[in-house]
Amino acid sequence: MSDASAKKKLSKDINKTGQHGFRRGVNVIAVASGKGGVGKTWFSITLSHALAKAGKKVLLFDGDLGLANIDVQLGLMPKRDLNDVIRGRLSIDKVIQPYKEGGFDIVAGRSGQASLSALPSQRLTMLRDQLVDIATEYDVVILDLGAGVDRTVRMLSASAIRTLLVTTDEPTSLTDAYAFIKLGSAAGMSKNVGVIVNQATSTTEGEKTYKTLLKACENFLRLKPPLIGMVRYDKKVKATIRHQSPILTRSPNSDAAEDVESIAKIIIRDLAERKKAARA
Ligand SMILES: Nc1ncnc2c1ncn2[C@@H]1O[C@H](COP(=O)(O)OP(=O)(O)OP(=O)(O)O)[C@@H](O)[C@H]1O
Ligand SMILES: [Mg+2]
Repeated sequence: MSDASAKKKLSKDINKTGQHGFRRGVNVIAVASGKGGVGKTWFSITLSHALAKAGKKVLLFDGDLGLANIDVQLGLMPKRDLNDVIRGRLSIDKVIQPYKEGGFDIVAGRSGQASLSALPSQRLTMLRDQLVDIATEYDVVILDLGAGVDRTVRMLSASAIRTLLVTTDEPTSLTDAYAFIKLGSAAGMSKNVGVIVNQATSTTEGEKTYKTLLKACENFLRLKPPLIGMVRYDKKVKATIRHQSPILTRSPNSDAAEDVESIAKIIIRDLAERKKAARA
């Protein structure tokens, strides 16, 4: 390696190193939540689709180890999945499958494999490193996480430049979102958290939900997680999941589809700004 290219690689690696010494993918975006069932997987799929429609090369990674269900929502039957990577049988590039209908790639997880949800940290670190490496082949990587803030979530979201915390207006979802920020802050990941209010009955109600969360974060944690966007409650979401087809194909003009497309635009802008800042 020449001196110049060694320097370039070094500065690239430094850019990828987080405050706690781990490597971050500069284009990896994690999708998390305190409470389960708030719409992370549906949102991750739809966001990936919207980013792909906007011309980006996207990888959707099922990081809900042990309870994976991107494949279920899309009606896919993956022959290879993350289990093969974690067991050391295949490298991550060998389990990527193109999802032609959406124009993006998928790394599928394995559902019902209890051992995957309690991986030794060495294997998790290996997985995170492979994720950050493969991310260099893409414009954006969306990482769909399991609910809560356990070790797997903390480790995987540490590979992301931004964690989108999904909440609904249900009190339990809001208190769990607050707990996620609080515990995540102790783990050093709260700086990159942005809020997505999903299933909002209206824009006003969604804003109210965000403000309630913001107030608690400001008062008790001295943190101000920004609102990244809102997605309205939409009956079409359930219908499209039942048909195992993406909402942007089946109902592209629905409220929820339009809201996610607006968020995709914000993400594209955010990534471009971060890229510019990293180069400066
Ligand atoms: N904007 C929306 N409007 C209406 N329903 C929605 C919306 N978003 C999600 N849902 C509903 O929420 C359900 C749960 O979604 P999803 O499986 O994506 O949640 P999750 O957060 O990934 O769950 P888990 O924590 O179990 O992984 C969906 O089946 C869908 O019916
Ligand atoms: Mg899910």
